[in-house]
Amino acid sequence: MDTKDRILRVLTEKKGKFISGENLSGELGVTRTAVWKHISRLREEGYGIQSVPRRGYRLDKSPALFNKSSITSRLHTKILGKELLFLKETDSTNNMLKRLAANAACEGTVVVAESQTSGRGRRGRTWEMVPGKGIAMSILLRPNIDPGNIQAITLAASSAVCKAIESCTQLKPGIKWPNDIQLNGKKVCGILTEMTAEPDKIHSVIVGIGLNVSQEEKDFTDEVKDTVTSIALNGHTDTSRSTLTARILEEFEELYLDYVEKRSTAKFLNIWRSFSSTIGCDIIIHQGEKTWQARALDVLDDGCLLVETEDGKRQAISSGEISIRKKS
Ligand code: BTN
Repeated sequence: MDTKDRILRVLTEKKGKFISGENLSGELGVTRTAVWKHISRLREEGYGIQSVPRRGYRLDKSPALFNKSSITSRLHTKILGKELLFLKETDSTNNMLKRLAANAACEGTVVVAESQTSGRGRRGRTWEMVPGKGIAMSILLRPNIDPGNIQAITLAASSAVCKAIESCTQLKPGIKWPNDIQLNGKKVCGILTEMTAEPDKIHSVIVGIGLNVSQEEKDFTDEVKDTVTSIALNGHTDTSRSTLTARILEEFEELYLDYVEKRSTAKFLNIWRSFSSTIGCDIIIHQGEKTWQARALDVLDDGCLLVETEDGKRQAISSGEISIRKKS
């Protein structure tokens, strides 16, 4: 982190209180003139920083910036986002990170982009996002777990995104198994997890998160506009993408490290269950050409959905899509 970002971080952490130029220069190990120069640059970028003789500097207003500094100055993580690449445009943040991973990028590297020319969704679908209105980010992990347990990572990610949305907006999202995050029954976020592995060893896992933040209805195509939504369309028009991105990384890191260190799914599965909009519902399961009905009972340790059919048979579903049956 460069000096300007470190100053921004200290000012942000002061939460509207003054810090003297002397303390700032002491804390960061730079001269007071250097502090003053960086403060001027931050002001040029739109930060409202007051300076009062004998009291020092105070951050009054942060612009709705979305860039590397605005994210990292809000970030308190050990590994996720320590290396962060912010791009105006890329083909797909998952593709970009895959290329970096092949060149030995370290665990925790994050790619964020304002716009994607070939954003990808699950099952070969595309992921469209109007530039400047959403979050497209990918996170590189190198977990020492069995490749068969990869679904756990996605469930931890969807739990983390829900916690972050809730803490930034007080909205209560729901998760439709396996990992569609919804607000009022419409999709607000999708997660695409991709892995390169040998049969018994994971090389890399890339968790791609696409989150709709400030889109209005006109920003969605006719094809999807009845089924997707944004945080703004749910009444929160001034949500900071930088704060939300940092929060997602913090929440995800906590759940991810807990999982890989303790080998226990308990923590994130309890969170997943608390946000689930699937458990307890009558659902339709779509697996290829096959479609059938069941009741969703629970999510299992390996991420499978436990369902019960009308004849009382229980079964764990590991793949496919579900839709929730409307109550008649
Ligand atoms: C889904 O189909 O629900 C998953 C959508 C995932 C979209 C994100 S946006 C960031 C990352 N880059 C991609 O190309 N896709 C994922």
